[in-house]
Amino acid sequence: MALEAIKWVNGKLEVLDQILLPAITRYVPVRGVEDGWLVINKMQVRGAPAIAIVGCLSLAVELQNEQYPDKCTLRREIEGKLNYLVSARPTAVNIKIATEELIELANKLSKDDSITISQMTEQFLKKIDSMLEKDIADNKAIGDFGAKEILKNIPKDNLVRVITHCNTGSLATAGYGTALGVVRSLHDKNRLEHVYCTETRPYNQGARLTAYELVHDKIPGTLICDDMVAALMKSRPISAVVVGADRVAANGDTANKIGTYQIAIIAKHHGVPLYVAAPQTSIDFRIPGGDHIPIEERPDREMTHLNDQRIAAVGIQCWNPAFDVTPASLITGIITEVGVFRPEELTKLRNSSQRFDN
Ligand code: MRU
Repeated sequence: MALEAIKWVNGKLEVLDQILLPAITRYVPVRGVEDGWLVINKMQVRGAPAIAIVGCLSLAVELQNEQYPDKCTLRREIEGKLNYLVSARPTAVNIKIATEELIELANKLSKDDSITISQMTEQFLKKIDSMLEKDIADNKAIGDFGAKEILKNIPKDNLVRVITHCNTGSLATAGYGTALGVVRSLHDKNRLEHVYCTETRPYNQGARLTAYELVHDKIPGTLICDDMVAALMKSRPISAVVVGADRVAANGDTANKIGTYQIAIIAKHHGVPLYVAAPQTSIDFRIPGGDHIPIEERPDREMTHLNDQRIAAVGIQCWNPAFDVTPASLITGIITEVGVFRPEELTKLRNSSQRFDN
């Protein structure tokens, strides 16, 4: 059975509590926007696509249970709640883009005199509903484009070895995953010899979540600490690094889990291609470069404690940025659901996207 981070059944929303994994499998009910904000902020659900989906679904839960006097009030409530949800975590752009599209839809529906308030709610909920399916379809496409790209210069009978960082799989998305989707696709094609996943300090998404997914799906994998990447690349031939993204700027600079940047530098030194796998909803064309991406800083406790046990000396100061920015010059390609692009080619996508032209 596939791992399910988000359960959306008969209008009820539950998320798998990722703080407790892999030891305990427990779903947390999300009864509205306030709960949605909390599960995102506390990282019970995390990963850029999953954050966007859970945020929007938490609004859907609330809209099903609330009555509003008129369309204008409904529109105002939608806008306010969506803007609030975006504030839960600032770096991943997917939730911002999703909420902007939903606010635009709410504006359009509220101005349409031919529909009633219940029709407006219905159409709005349908749009949110479609996000789960679209995310899975996009991830499968990313997986296949990515596998094809990594295999393009590899002789037909050879297998590949890849490194991935953080968790970008079923637990970070509606299913299948982005960078881990590429790994899954390579495995499905019987072309994956091995995947190495980094521990991903301080929150340990690699050790706790990616390792869990690999074991669950019987994908041959090995866990390494974050500081072992250079030694690994020196001692074993690595075909590619594939990571996810929280926000890709228009020039291809990419914010992803802290540690991605140093892996990219090491990969460059060893001549290993580094790919970013992300849906188009992770690309922020309004930001010209990575310097403009807001980087979330998390509480010290995530560094100083492990399972409530203090591991750092009392009194030490901490710096805990959740993400870093890998410059486009270190990125071989950006794997999206519509194909693979070199960072400088991203403008092609901008031109084909109407997202921000209104
Ligand atoms: O802090 P997290 O766990 O939300 O960070 C997750 C990542 O950095 C992922 O690589 C990214 O969101 C892509 S998930 C498909």
